[in-house]
Amino acid sequence: MLPGQSDLFDIPKGVAYLNCAYMSPLMHSVVEASSAGLARKARPWEITSDDFFEQTEILRGLAARLFCCTADDVALVPSASYGIETAARNQPVARGKKILVLAEQFPSHVYPWRRVASESGAEILTVGWPEDGDWTSAVLRVLDDSVAIAALPHTQWTSGGLLDLERIGRECRRNGTALVLDLTQSLGAYPFDAEKVQPDFAVAAGYKWLLSPYSTGILYVAPKWQQGRPLEDGWVQRDNARRFAELIHYTGGYLPGARRFDMGEHSNFALVPAVIAAVRQILDWGVEEISQSIGGLTRRLIERVGPAAVPEQFRAPHYLCLRGAASPSPALLSRLADERIYVSVRGASIRVTPHVYNSTHDVDRLAEVLLRL
Ligand SMILES: Cc1ncc(COP(=O)(O)O)c(C=O)c1O
Repeated sequence: MLPGQSDLFDIPKGVAYLNCAYMSPLMHSVVEASSAGLARKARPWEITSDDFFEQTEILRGLAARLFCCTADDVALVPSASYGIETAARNQPVARGKKILVLAEQFPSHVYPWRRVASESGAEILTVGWPEDGDWTSAVLRVLDDSVAIAALPHTQWTSGGLLDLERIGRECRRNGTALVLDLTQSLGAYPFDAEKVQPDFAVAAGYKWLLSPYSTGILYVAPKWQQGRPLEDGWVQRDNARRFAELIHYTGGYLPGARRFDMGEHSNFALVPAVIAAVRQILDWGVEEISQSIGGLTRRLIERVGPAAVPEQFRAPHYLCLRGAASPSPALLSRLADERIYVSVRGASIRVTPHVYNSTHDVDRLAEVLLRL
């Protein structure tokens, strides 16, 4: 387990912030990197054309280490929605085929697929909440060659259920099914390996488990889709983008790899250095170590106030949803906030998502108040 890391964050004593799945706090180093980046724009004469690309290439390389892919496979995007939309616009779906989603899946990973289904004459197939909590088996039971796209997460966000993406990926390849992943609730806190899973697209928004500012995100695009159509047709994705004086020599070519899918103005001088600082720290800690450390905290809570919404063998260690017989009372969150304890309610679950800035003391305080209430 990693030792407590709260000193790296701006969390006052007495605050038990157990809500990373909502939005992470930022480390001091991340805020400093962002402030310094913002201040650069006060002196634009010091910003060169190379500066538009150097930092983003560093970030691409770091993101590649999180995905386990090459830097060429990474695009820089502002949100999970943007990445999923990129995937949705590049996936051919034949009439009568199916697009697979999970019950209670996050809306940004449902609405685009509903649109694609209605435009192409395909059908949405929703995997119901499994009685035994095993989302992987529930997916594998319905995954056959009638499924054109499996649009899935690694962690189902209202249950904390973990999907075995390597097994699902293998089955997708056997059936000719494209695999489009929303890793927003897992990347950075649970190991992922694009080489083993072989998804077609995988996106993660930055502001949760990547400990980054809002409006940042990273998108993995498999090599076979890297000739696809980006959402935007701007200048910065083009093969002459680094030569500012020549931008009006319009070109049909793009920068190599997944760079054509980068968002416009991806060189954001305030945000990119911040994400770099955050991802460097995550890689220094190690994703496996982060996962184990958070897992120790969530298991401690289950021992005191369990059960979890899904059994331990099917649960993501970093992500705990407590689901009792009755839905949580609407007053619960404000009663907890009175004690300076912060969690979320999602669906019928109380969602508790600590990180390495939390201590066993935070978890014990939450347990004590939940039992009292
Ligand atoms: C599973 C999941 N995906 C994506 C998002 C965020 O989506 P976007 O970046 O499009 O706002 C959230 C936010 O709660 C989420 O829980």
